[in-house]
Amino acid sequence: MEANKTLIAYETKGGATGESARKIAEILRSKYGLEVDLVDLKKQKPASLEQYRNVVIGGGVRAGKVYEKALKFLENDLSGKRVAFFVSSAEAGTPGSYEKAKAKFVESELANHPKIVPVSTEAFGGRIKILGKTVTDNRDMAKVEAWAEELGAKFTQ
Ligand SMILES: Cc1cc2nc3c(=O)[nH]c(=O)nc-3n(C[C@H](O)[C@H](O)[C@H](O)COP(=O)(O)O)c2cc1C
Repeated sequence: MEANKTLIAYETKGGATGESARKIAEILRSKYGLEVDLVDLKKQKPASLEQYRNVVIGGGVRAGKVYEKALKFLENDLSGKRVAFFVSSAEAGTPGSYEKAKAKFVESELANHPKIVPVSTEAFGGRIKILGKTVTDNRDMAKVEAWAEELGAKFTQ
């Protein structure tokens, strides 16, 4: 395990989670000097988790469920690692629904994995495109950036 190696494993369907994952990677690399591997779980499998000290998992939400591959990833043995988890969900970006969305999509999912004690979790807004046209976008990239900074500080402690 290398102290500065960080994995960001994510599943995206509409692209929002991928964009957040890339933004987080960019900040962890440029501001915190971390070596970051980005893995799109629909296309790749991380070679071995053994090398990573820090693991960030992200997934989108559709039809009331966090994407399956992101949830499946939580079943890995992540003991001894600093783990962070985030979701992209239109409900989380809607004023008044954030707390409920975070409880449903983040806290209750992590409750299924009591061995994981995350250093931080977050629920970001999402984006819905229909026929290539954005119909809803309640993401807040400043919030994603602030969370990446928080992770950077924790991962370099
Ligand atoms: C078919 C469909 C169903 C969705 N269902 C939900 C939902 O149940 N709850 C929610 O908060 N957001 C829902 N959304 C919004 C997504 O969370 C949003 O598109 C988010 O950006 C998904 O992440 P992704 O872009 O990385 O795939 C839905 C979007 C689509 C296209």
